Amino acid sequence: EKGGYPDFMLKEIHEQPRVIRDTLAGRLSAGSLVIDELDMTAEELNLVDRVYVIACGTSYHAGLIAKNLIESWARIPCEVEVASEFRYRNPIITPTTLVVAVSQSGETADTLAAIRDARVKGAKVFGITNVVGSPVARESDGVIYTKANKEIAVASTKSFLGQVVSLTLLAMLLGQSQGELTGGQVKLLFSELADTAEQVERILAECTDSVDEAAEAMVDAASALFIGRGMGAATSYEGALKMKEISYLHAEAYAAGEMKHGPIALIDEGFPVVAIATNSAVYDKVVSNLQESRARGACIIAVATEGDEDIKKHADHVIYVPKVRDAFSPITASVPLQLLSRAVAVKRGCDVDQPRNLAKSVTVE
Ligand code: M6R
Repeated sequence: EKGGYPDFMLKEIHEQPRVIRDTLAGRLSAGSLVIDELDMTAEELNLVDRVYVIACGTSYHAGLIAKNLIESWARIPCEVEVASEFRYRNPIITPTTLVVAVSQSGETADTLAAIRDARVKGAKVFGITNVVGSPVARESDGVIYTKANKEIAVASTKSFLGQVVSLTLLAMLLGQSQGELTGGQVKLLFSELADTAEQVERILAECTDSVDEAAEAMVDAASALFIGRGMGAATSYEGALKMKEISYLHAEAYAAGEMKHGPIALIDEGFPVVAIATNSAVYDKVVSNLQESRARGACIIAVATEGDEDIKKHADHVIYVPKVRDAFSPITASVPLQLLSRAVAVKRGCDVDQPRNLAKSVTVE
């Protein structure tokens, strides 16, 4: 049932190219995006002037990625909030507010409560869930199903990637309906997004050794930092959650620019810092942040773009991923981080699929 893999997590990580392909199948028609399940006309979508992405845990991290895309492609202000906070405050909601609720299980108590609250206040709610007919699907105005299929490991991997790809499509749709993206731009983005399936396949085939080497370097650490900027910051949060969830190694994510505002005090000889240093407009800034950490003794594990030889001067271990546009870097860069957390967990003798104290779905608040 594990398909020859030692655990479900590894099996599910390897299903991700298929998830990307299935999530994109049939979504581009005559040069424009089609997401009929959303049940909103192009005019209604055009009127949206505020977006909230509401979710918990890993799904919240998919939301952090979406915020960057929605704001840059659709130019609509987007806030991402954990559902347990959103439901107990008084957010600004009008009839032109779109609430996007993201939940793998479709039954997370806080996310459901947030959906109900948002609808009472007059917002349109889109659900993004992996479970057909789940409460999130039933109680939202429209729903996009991530095509992950059943996820057994408690740690979300393939469902996270399905969420990121679905939210990327939604951001493109909003960009299209706001008149911010041309048909040509949508087509180009879509085809590059589709290419990530093969790129993830390649990462899975090629990064085992570099991931293992990096895992060996951090297996005995008490704590680790994950840093990045922009899309890389969003990716770091998920990397750190995965690490603490299954390996019990304390890991925190920070926007790299925050290092000197506190976290750099943690760095001493051998302290692991995992840096997302893929190609982007802020690449040089990330490099200078990791140099600052390294100067204080940090052991740098960098996720970088293939062909970037220079990064080897600044990092102790490098895990390469194929070159993609920055907008799609979370899709590729997340994969080695999933493998890294699993490798550390295995080396530490942890139960990868069933981490202590956690349940696959959280139906009580
Ligand atoms: O089913 P949901 O997406 O609503 O679940 C949200 C979180 O409980 C979930 O993502 C959790 O953080 C996972 N264990 C992450 O791997």
